[in-house]
Amino acid sequence: PSEVQAPAVPSSAEAVNNKKRECFGVFCLASGEVFGPDQPISLKLLGSERSIQALEGVAMELEDSLYPLLRQVSIGIDPYEVFQDVEWALLIGARPRGPGMERAGLLDINGQIFAEQGKALNAVASSNVKVIVVGNPCNTNALICLKNAPRIPAKNFHALTRLDENRAKCQLALKAGVFYDKVSNMTIWGNHSTTQVPDFLNARINGKPAKEVINDTKWLKEDFTEIVQKRGGVLIQKWGRSSAASTAVSIVDAIRSLTNPTPDGDWFSTGVYTNGNPYGIAEDIVYSMPCRSKGDGDYELATDVIFDDFLRDRLKKTEAELLAEKRCVAHLTGEGNAFCD
Ligand code: LMR
Repeated sequence: PSEVQAPAVPSSAEAVNNKKRECFGVFCLASGEVFGPDQPISLKLLGSERSIQALEGVAMELEDSLYPLLRQVSIGIDPYEVFQDVEWALLIGARPRGPGMERAGLLDINGQIFAEQGKALNAVASSNVKVIVVGNPCNTNALICLKNAPRIPAKNFHALTRLDENRAKCQLALKAGVFYDKVSNMTIWGNHSTTQVPDFLNARINGKPAKEVINDTKWLKEDFTEIVQKRGGVLIQKWGRSSAASTAVSIVDAIRSLTNPTPDGDWFSTGVYTNGNPYGIAEDIVYSMPCRSKGDGDYELATDVIFDDFLRDRLKKTEAELLAEKRCVAHLTGEGNAFCD
């Protein structure tokens, strides 16, 4: 049997700094741990006819938790009602991937959901709403969503690749024998799929290039890359279902990265619209890239990144996959007939 390793034990000061791990999912949003202790919050939960009872249960638990900042919990199944005036939209609901399925296999099934939700956001959400798409294939779903929401800046749409970033940090920390928070500048480039590129060239451990600290290029190019790329699929095989807890944590991390200033020199990964990117990545797709925020919900792309042939080659491969997915959903983005390779 394989062993489950834990990274080096942190000192007590480090443990205190990692206090953010204490809360979880929607309860974390309600508690004030994400948007801060002075920010009242109203939670609007969108379900379906099939899930509405379960959602009522979640709403009851939220109410019974007596969170001082939680001013309203409402639930519904009509996105045109539920999305009214929302400032953050976390689009999680979609058919999940089962054992043996690739995320791209969900393109057809889930694309419709995100076209409809894009239209609803366009009609009724706050004009500066920030949208985080989690349902897979999340990059292309985010593209479908933003194309159906022309009133909202395309820059405001994100595909969640923070889970991949967290996975990559964990693997580097394990290999280097350090605690997770010693790993910085961890970029996930491209698609949230098995072509994603966990960038060990720019990653740093204790402020030094990860390549120098780990000093095992074969492991970085082969094992590390593949472990991160396939982590979601392996987890599905083991659990029989898609990751849930670590996804919830990573959604919270993604919001926090946009609502807090990025620590000096560091960056975070998020899948964003490529128009105007400085890296030569094809325009008009949603591609994960390194970003920094001033903490106002907005972000800028990091420009202090380096490339080598290996990285460039991998960036092209994940770009090609996203371009193919885009062609396959042209009917949902208003760009003609779909063509699936
Ligand atoms: C994950 O990466 O764990 C999720 O996106 C689930 C999936 O479909 O792989």
